[in-house]
Amino acid sequence: MNCLRSRLWLMLLACLTVAPLGAQQPSQIAPVQQASQPSANPWWKHAVIYEIYPRSFQDSNGDGIGDINGITSRLDYLKDLGVDAIWITPMYPSPQVDFGYDISDYTAIDSQYGTMEDFDQLVSEAKKRNIRIIMDYVPNHTSDQNKWFLESRSSRTNQKRDWYIWRDGKGPGKPPNNWESWFGHSAWTFDAKTRQWYYHYFYVQQPDLNWRNPEVRKAMYDVLRFWLDRGAAGFRMDAVSRLFEDPNLHDDPILPGKNAYGDPNIKHKYTDDLPEVHDVLREIRKLVDTYPGDPVLISEADEPTIQDLVKMYGVNNDEVQLPMDFKIADVNKLSAPEFRKLLDEVEFNPLDGQPYFFFSNHDQVRTWDRYGDGVHNDQIAKLVAALLLTTRATPQMYYGEELGMRTTVPTRKEDVKDPVGRTGWPKDKGRDGERTPMQWDGAQNAGFSTAAKTWLPVPPSAAQCNVVTEANDPDSILNFYKHVISLRRDLPALRDGGYVAVNRDDPNVLSYLRKRPEGTDSVLVALNMSAEPRTVRFKLKGFGVLGTSAHVLLAAPQVSLDLSLDEIKLGPFAVLIATVK
Ligand code: GLC
Repeated sequence: MNCLRSRLWLMLLACLTVAPLGAQQPSQIAPVQQASQPSANPWWKHAVIYEIYPRSFQDSNGDGIGDINGITSRLDYLKDLGVDAIWITPMYPSPQVDFGYDISDYTAIDSQYGTMEDFDQLVSEAKKRNIRIIMDYVPNHTSDQNKWFLESRSSRTNQKRDWYIWRDGKGPGKPPNNWESWFGHSAWTFDAKTRQWYYHYFYVQQPDLNWRNPEVRKAMYDVLRFWLDRGAAGFRMDAVSRLFEDPNLHDDPILPGKNAYGDPNIKHKYTDDLPEVHDVLREIRKLVDTYPGDPVLISEADEPTIQDLVKMYGVNNDEVQLPMDFKIADVNKLSAPEFRKLLDEVEFNPLDGQPYFFFSNHDQVRTWDRYGDGVHNDQIAKLVAALLLTTRATPQMYYGEELGMRTTVPTRKEDVKDPVGRTGWPKDKGRDGERTPMQWDGAQNAGFSTAAKTWLPVPPSAAQCNVVTEANDPDSILNFYKHVISLRRDLPALRDGGYVAVNRDDPNVLSYLRKRPEGTDSVLVALNMSAEPRTVRFKLKGFGVLGTSAHVLLAAPQVSLDLSLDEIKLGPFAVLIATVK
């Protein structure tokens, strides 16, 4: 990286982190402990992180809802798969309007999911298997049933009134401005008792905290300490870019057209990505760095460009270690040039932060459906897995993706559980489809639960697509995942090597080298992103790789073990991972 270029970047980023005019400067709350020394080569650079939606992973008490003891009972499966850390979506007390993302108590466990003792046991059993636990941290908003909000709404003079965003309306029935909720309609709700409006970026039942209030910051930093003290290895931070809103309440710009909820499209210019977010991220990073074991921060923020994404690392790499890359996740078509371009952008990111890739999560249609062409979906699932697991990025999986689990949307509005699916029906059917129970075996409810009815139905595809069936099939998606994960762990080039794009002009096959650290073979990855057979030829001398043949480590579909780099034939959506000799 050219020095001058990096310096200009840093100056630009420093300018962008200045607070907007009119914003109150919050008092800084410095962590009390001294920073422990983060490692040069922390665990999260090499980890495979696996997202668990606890409601849907494993039910241990037959009530049709997954729970903590269910997760503990499946740790051996996760170990065998090769997972290093699990991120568990919220299991704190909650009215479950947004299935846990509406938290009424940040430092307890919802009885639906178990007890604090169950949690402690999960941490200790996971530790025995070298699996770390990453908690979900939801700083932007609480539940409207959180005692902080109940106090805040009780009167205009309550001591916690300013913990949330309360404003006068523009007149009778008129909210303070045109800001819209992500889940449809106005982001302001009128409170009849105190005759003011409160702000909520998400559901009405999720009032936004006021991060300009120092007491809020202190309370929310105490939450981090609570879970770190209990053994959490880090946090996935929910919706962090939305922590601040313009204090002057400017209207957001209106865009053409309407959204799925019938509201005018708007640009969330005054409620998303405000520069003060970075002050908070720096404070949080300082706090977690006081703990040993390199706790990790993962940010959920759908940043529109690499320049915006890079800001999440912090000017001095002092904010988030792993910002989720939504641009890679949402390419939504198999296009070698598009992926190549995005991987290049990541590679040349000026702060040299660790990339973090994923394709599936609890908010988006599963990979199998989103990238599948309806004919080669299982093969495509392997291709996407290879892409996820063979670049330099830390990969994040979503439960069931290793089986090729598919999205199964409700067919009737009355069956929808996710409120947004009812507001948006039929244009937006909500997120139930990607949250169906994990498919373990061919038994009742796919082995997820012994209940007569599960909270979401088990999809019919579970009869073939389940852990037991796939474990017994050497060509299954599950065995493919296991194999790539083990290569990633064991081969120095895949584990530590640099990323070098090769055959850059190929419109169909995405190829790259993971370039060896000293003394080990380079690994070549070739992914045919088209439905046609393709022939590829590699000349790698220019990249300092002298070998002329490829020794296949893993290919789907299978091919002969040794191939000449002068001509390699790849079937539709074929994957080739080979060492160069
Ligand atoms: C995040 C979560 C999503 C939730 C929203 C509000 O985007 O991933 O599930 O609905 O935040 O908390």
